[in-house]
Amino acid sequence: MDNTKRENFGSKLGIIMATAGSALGLGNIYRFPCEAGANGGAAFLIVYLAIALLIGTPLMMAEFIIGRRSRSNPIGAFRKLDKTSAEGGKARKSPFTLVGYLGVLSAFLILAFYTTVAGWTLGYLGKSIAGHFGGQDLAGIQQQFSDFTSHPWLPLVCQGAFLLLTAVVVMRGVKDGIERWSKILMPLLLVIMVVLCIKSLTLSGANEGLRFFLKPDFSKIDAGVLISALGQCFFSLSIGMGALITYGSYIDKNDNMLSSAVSVTLADTLVAVLAGIVIFPAAFSFGIQPEAGASLAFTTLPMVFQQMTGGYFFCLIFFLLLVIATLTSTISLLEVIVAALSEELHLSRTRAAIIGTVGTAIIGVLATLSFRPGSPLHIGGTTVFDLLDHATAMYLMPIGGLLIVLFVGWRMKRADVMDEMTNGKWKENSGKMKEGCTTAAPRRHSTFHSQLSTLIYLIIRYLAPVAIAIIFISQLLK
Ligand code: PHE
Repeated sequence: MDNTKRENFGSKLGIIMATAGSALGLGNIYRFPCEAGANGGAAFLIVYLAIALLIGTPLMMAEFIIGRRSRSNPIGAFRKLDKTSAEGGKARKSPFTLVGYLGVLSAFLILAFYTTVAGWTLGYLGKSIAGHFGGQDLAGIQQQFSDFTSHPWLPLVCQGAFLLLTAVVVMRGVKDGIERWSKILMPLLLVIMVVLCIKSLTLSGANEGLRFFLKPDFSKIDAGVLISALGQCFFSLSIGMGALITYGSYIDKNDNMLSSAVSVTLADTLVAVLAGIVIFPAAFSFGIQPEAGASLAFTTLPMVFQQMTGGYFFCLIFFLLLVIATLTSTISLLEVIVAALSEELHLSRTRAAIIGTVGTAIIGVLATLSFRPGSPLHIGGTTVFDLLDHATAMYLMPIGGLLIVLFVGWRMKRADVMDEMTNGKWKENSGKMKEGCTTAAPRRHSTFHSQLSTLIYLIIRYLAPVAIAIIFISQLLK
């Protein structure tokens, strides 16, 4: 395998930040409250947490393993590993080679509708700079949302600008572009979320919203809630479609991927939960329905800022950070397409980025225009936007995730998987680390690391495929 020309992330913090940058985004602040609101609040949260913990981290590891082992984009990764995994090293092509294509297709479709809402964040940043929310009541803020999203060209301009911004960063390459952006402002987002939580919880009537989000009614858990939580978890952690295979391919062979995967899962889940704690108490306090869907975050948050001292600045900083969090996610989506096009078709990064951006823009425009009232862009009563969202989160990502865990658990050799998971310190058959490794990295590759690696391997091999398959099939039979 030719690894010489590929860039790597510059540091341990670089991987965590880039992966967290991919994970944190609209999925946490916009989509999570939407899904939780529509699926019974706390019942959804419980299922979500269980899935994030039990399936999220192992699947993230599975993707890192595929990426780092192959040093390739998702399409090349499955092709290379499929060949080397065949017993006796014989080149026996299996259908798994198609999984990479599925991932790239998912990245393309997600990017198309994701940039619709990404454009809104840019528009809302403009609105907060111009002080459009000042002195408005709920009806005024709701009206602003529908005026903005149904405007004939403004959301398209914002979407185009966002795509362009993404393309520019991606063209500059992994280290200069992606890593630098992710490192700077992610932690700040966490701080502002905590400030917002405090404000939201002190609003009158906040308790009812908090109860909705935190006190589960287990009878509400059905097949629909399960698949929505699974899809949301995959979407939020950027798993099941190849983004983390691509990022995994840039991870240095000495980095401890396991601790990165655990840290990112925890950080992402924390931000989603914080978003719920900000949005539901505030929404109940203002009389906004938790099932309000697309408008939930975009009406509740400006209302919270209205009630705060220094609300103008908080609002501005919040939307600026949201734009950046969103950008680090769109970067990771476009990177999947660019890595695949440039490596598989031997195109330059610039050319690949242009093709990826134009292709995305064509579908993305349809998603954005489908928000216009009376738009013909409805298929079977659903907007193109919702159709893309459902097709990816409820079908493509769960199927992609299932195939990824099956590939790592059953097609790849156990020794290769464990070798990646423990950075070459795994000794086959003994279940322990190789002797003589105690001096090189005694603490990072401890017995605990070894045991955790074994546990994750078993989850990848048995629990994750069974759980994903059951959830997926149960909703099909619903
Ligand atoms: N995880 C991102 C978010 O939560 C969205 C995303 C999905 C990014 C898939 C990359 C791949 O906003």
